[in-house]
Amino acid sequence: MTSDARHRRELDLLTIGTERDDPDDRARSWSEDLRTVVRRGEGVSAGLAEAIRSAARSGALRAGVRMPSSRALAEDLGVSRNTVTEAYTQLVAEGWLATRQGSGTWLADRAGDGPDVAPIDIGSRLEEIASFRYSFEPGSPDVSAFPREAWAAAARRALLAAPSRSLGYIDSRGDPGLRHTLAEYLGRVRGVVCHPEQVVVCSGFTQALAVLSRVIASRRGVLALEEQRHWHHTVVVHTAGVRTLTLPLDEDGADVARLPSTSATAVLLTPAHQYPSGARLSTARRRAVIEWARTSGGLIVEDDYDGEFPDPRGRHRALQGLEPGHVAYCGTVSKTLAPGIRLGWVVAPPVWVGEIVRTKRNLDQQAGVLTQLTLDDLITSGEYDRHVRRSRLAYRRRREALASTVRMAAPWADIQGGIGGLHVVLTWSDRPGMPTVEAVQDSCARLGVSPPPALTRFGPVPAGRAGVVIGFATPAEHEFRGALAALASALRAAAAEAGPAEV
Ligand SMILES: Cc1ncc(COP(=O)(O)O)c(C=O)c1O
Repeated sequence: MTSDARHRRELDLLTIGTERDDPDDRARSWSEDLRTVVRRGEGVSAGLAEAIRSAARSGALRAGVRMPSSRALAEDLGVSRNTVTEAYTQLVAEGWLATRQGSGTWLADRAGDGPDVAPIDIGSRLEEIASFRYSFEPGSPDVSAFPREAWAAAARRALLAAPSRSLGYIDSRGDPGLRHTLAEYLGRVRGVVCHPEQVVVCSGFTQALAVLSRVIASRRGVLALEEQRHWHHTVVVHTAGVRTLTLPLDEDGADVARLPSTSATAVLLTPAHQYPSGARLSTARRRAVIEWARTSGGLIVEDDYDGEFPDPRGRHRALQGLEPGHVAYCGTVSKTLAPGIRLGWVVAPPVWVGEIVRTKRNLDQQAGVLTQLTLDDLITSGEYDRHVRRSRLAYRRRREALASTVRMAAPWADIQGGIGGLHVVLTWSDRPGMPTVEAVQDSCARLGVSPPPALTRFGPVPAGRAGVVIGFATPAEHEFRGALAALASALRAAAAEAGPAEV
């Protein structure tokens, strides 16, 4: 069979396959839709592209499905090859299709139109959490341990020493002193290799992601996301108009080896401590993603949100240190100090800096100067390091206490997520006789613990498993024991209700 004949047969098989899988009209026959477009006769190329998009949205065409060659499809539809090539080129640019020399064209992996994790209303969620005595809500450090005295002293020193001009409009990258200090600090603590000119201070990682997403969207890029992730990041990225696709996860982190066969031009990773699974990107995958970035010119967005709290069994330096030309390294004080400070940074590859700074300026001109000056003083005086060291020790103890409590109260559950960071994932089998996530959440609520978010909030969960995410840094130090005891009782009660014989 010639290759064109083979592709024509593939086209037929695709049609038959979708009819068999899903007999409803939606999936009836996408190739029939293509023929309708041709019969209509106007704007055929744009019409073909839209028919393929719509088949992908409806599920009639599935990720990974090989598309017929442009020549085979053109012959089949009776149109010029250019017409089909134009449609394919457009769809590749938009991320719907992926292509590689010698391997043909296929539907991009999970090319999605919008968030696949429903956004939540943060205002009512915060109110709900506050209505409980205890909370293990992930994402927060112990804000009651915020170094108020050290911060106040740093703020006073910084403000009194600051020249008046530093209180005016400044370089949108941020205060030069802080950028200098951050470049040195990140090199020392995370192995980041940069010049202060590459550092752009933002109001937290969220803004850094919004800025980077706008830049990626303006280049018509496609951003690969980890399959499980912070739900709000999906919203931020899609709001900026970036098309996305999803990389599956396992215990070695995101499957970045797939990147070369997708249309991704950028990838957002949490390599040190995947959020929320806790997986650390393996050495082989770190190499693979860097190789992909070097050969394709792709951008790696490294979200090092809890890099100051590494797994003590061996830490990896930031990916950025291995390939400064292709990694936009992002950090934040939201885990080390408090989310309410709203300070974070991007260390941008030199060729991206200009566009990032322009985009940042268009959003809010510059980050607040007083907090920048204060953070600079806190770091240079050594107080920041001291606070991080104290917190690291406290969180490690909490993590150990949580693990031994879960082992005793809920031997049916596994703790996942490495031994660094500020959260763990509790997972268990979802077979009959085991507690459901809702039962665990209800039981927590009855015992005064704000219901921990289901793992499904973050993305797809492996078949046969149920899980919740526990942020063990959230309770204040003086209530941690009480919170842990209440959580243990809740887990025991949920298991007892589910059927003691099975558990
Ligand atoms: C994965 C991840 N990245 C980054 C952040 C920090 O975001 P921000 O600096 O905007 O507070 C969080 C906060 O929860 C997070 O979970």
